[in-house]
This record gives sequence, structure tokens and C-alpha cells, in this order.
Amino acid sequence: MATFNLLLLPGDGIGVETMVEVERIIDFFNRSGRATFNTQSDLVGGAAYDAHGVAITDAAMDKAQKADAVIFGSVGGPKWADVPYAVRPEAGLLRLRKDLGLFANLRPAICYPALADASSLKRELVEGLDIMIVRELTGGVYFCEPKEIVTLENGEKRAIDTQIYTTSEIERIAKAAFDLARKRGNKVHSAEKHNVMRTGVLWKEVVTEVHRSYAPDVQLEHILADNCAMQLVRNPKQFDVIVTDNLFGDVLSDEAAMATGSLGMLPSASLGAVDATTGKRKALYEPVHGSAPDIAGKGLANPIATIASFGMALRYSCDMGAEADLVDQAIAGVLAAGYRTGDIMQSGMKQVGTAEMGGAILDELKKLAG
Ligand code: IPM
Ligand code: MG
Repeated sequence: MATFNLLLLPGDGIGVETMVEVERIIDFFNRSGRATFNTQSDLVGGAAYDAHGVAITDAAMDKAQKADAVIFGSVGGPKWADVPYAVRPEAGLLRLRKDLGLFANLRPAICYPALADASSLKRELVEGLDIMIVRELTGGVYFCEPKEIVTLENGEKRAIDTQIYTTSEIERIAKAAFDLARKRGNKVHSAEKHNVMRTGVLWKEVVTEVHRSYAPDVQLEHILADNCAMQLVRNPKQFDVIVTDNLFGDVLSDEAAMATGSLGMLPSASLGAVDATTGKRKALYEPVHGSAPDIAGKGLANPIATIASFGMALRYSCDMGAEADLVDQAIAGVLAAGYRTGDIMQSGMKQVGTAEMGGAILDELKKLAG
């Protein structure tokens, strides 16, 4: 039986509660004999800062490097608003992405039929929506140097962030997008701002070339990132795969997520390159939502995005596509049966907390798995 080593990093806020529900699902798969998951846990974000004065320790990074997959909860909260910039909770997540080389961030935006009315967009615009945003995750303006605030001679301050992209960085993310499109709707929109940014000019050039030489069978459209933002609320179903840089991907993926009804629903996968010798790739799975400090610790959080993130780990790190499908079906089934956490509550539905939602998904999973 296949064995996988998982590192669980629940982090802060609701990440702690939602990870408990993932552990119940992992236990189920272990007991049912479908695979052996060995789990370890560690601290990240504010929790790591409180214990060790850093957003993630070298020891935790070492575990992450060795794991088959990292399952991440969420980081941050008002408690750490004033900690030094270098050790703020988000720095833990950024270090994981950078040091593990997780350049490809897959953010599906799927509208579950049961939730089409929860979207701020009209039902007909979002019903059946299924988009995959492929965000470049280790380059661009979030990481490049110089990145600083300097004081000028006249006493004024000047802040600098730097956006750099190289051919190879764009090539590998474009290939990831074309590969995914082939398994879906076979269409890629590449979003950049070549009208004002040199990185946008190169982005467009390289994506065009990768398309020509690597994926002429896939339909490619170039779109300006601002137009993409507009089209996502005008007619989101025109999209299949959207590939874009780190900054635009951060923004567009939140927008696409909200179109589906709730940020609380959506998982993501961050993948590194495939190692030529082992055939494995580093990977981290996390919900798109944040730590939601306002409801943390109250048992109210929606665990679906974190559970679905584990589902993505089954698919992309464990080659357990059938089990990943089961997890997705269990979530859809529970929603169709009327279970709702507060963030997606609708009249006439059954409002439940984190543990009840997790339990309902587990029961459904047991039924489906037979
Ligand atoms: C995300 C988040 C992160 C990002 C933060 C927490 C650093 O917004 O994963 O989208 O900006 O990438
Ligand atoms: Mg974001």
C-alpha cells in the first residue's frame, strides 16, 4: 500500500479548527486501507512567532522539505498586527512557497449547484462555473529585490517593490496551465498588462511561443488583467484556465472565488517542479480563505475549503484521483442535503458548526466509499 508523509500546518485562527476536520478524513482513509498517511504537525504564522519569534522555524521547514505534501490552514490576525515585517505571520507562508519552489498555484473556482444563489452574481452567470486560475507564485512583485522603504534627502520616504520575470519562469507556469487545460476545457486565457509593463510584454511573448511549440492544440487568448477582472464578473463562464503572474493572480483569484458564493469553499494547490529522478514534486495545499479572526475558536468556521485542499493533495501528490473525486462528491452531497455553515447559510437550510459539517462530510464519504 502506498505510504505518504504529510505535514500539517494549521497556523492561526480558523485554520486550527478546520485542520481537525481534515485529520478525521485522513484517519478514515488510513483505517479503510486505501493508503497509509503518516502525519506530523508544526507551527506556522502567529503561532510560530509566539512560540519561537519567527513565522516558521528551520525545523518546520525541514519537515516541509521532506514531506510528500504540506496541508496548510491559515495565518495572521490582529494579535500580530505590530510584529516586525520580516516575522509577520504571512512571512511563514511566503518562505514555504519560496524555499519549496512552489511556482504553480492552482486555484479552482467552482460553483456548487446548491450554492448558486449564495453568489453576489446572478444564478445564471455562476451556475456550473468551473474555472482554474493558475497563479505564478514564487516570482514577481511579492519577492523581487529591491523591496524597501528608504528616506530621501528631503525627508520624504520612497517605497519600492520590484517586478521581475525571466523567460524560464514564464515558460514553466505557461506549460503548467496548458497541461491543465488539456484535462479540462482546453482553453487558456493569459492575463497581463503588456500595454504598461515590460514584464507584461515578455509574459505575452513567452506564452505565445510556449503555445506555438508546446501546446498548439490548446486554445489561447491573451487578455489584459484589468479586462480579465471585468470579464470575471460580467461573464465568468467564458473562462476555463486563466494563467497570470503572482500579483494579478492574487487579486483575480479572490474575485473568482467570491463569484462562487463564498471564499470559505475554495481549496488551492501550490506545486513545485517534478523531480526528474524521483518523479515527485513538492506541494502545499491550502484553503484560499484567511484566518477569519472574528469567528476563530468558536466552532463556526466552514471546513470545506481545507477538506477540499486535502482532496487536491490526494489528486496531485498521491495519485489518488478516485479518492479525490469521493471527497468532492461528499462535499457536494452534504451541501445538496442542506447542511450550511454560517458563511453560506440560506433560509430553509440546516445551519451547523465546523465539527458537524466535518462529521457530515465524513459520513457521506463513508457511504460513497462503500
Ligand atoms: C493568498 C494570500 C497571501 C498572498 C498572503 C497571506 C501573503 O492573500 O494566498 O492569496 O498574498 O499570496
Ligand atoms: Mg490572496
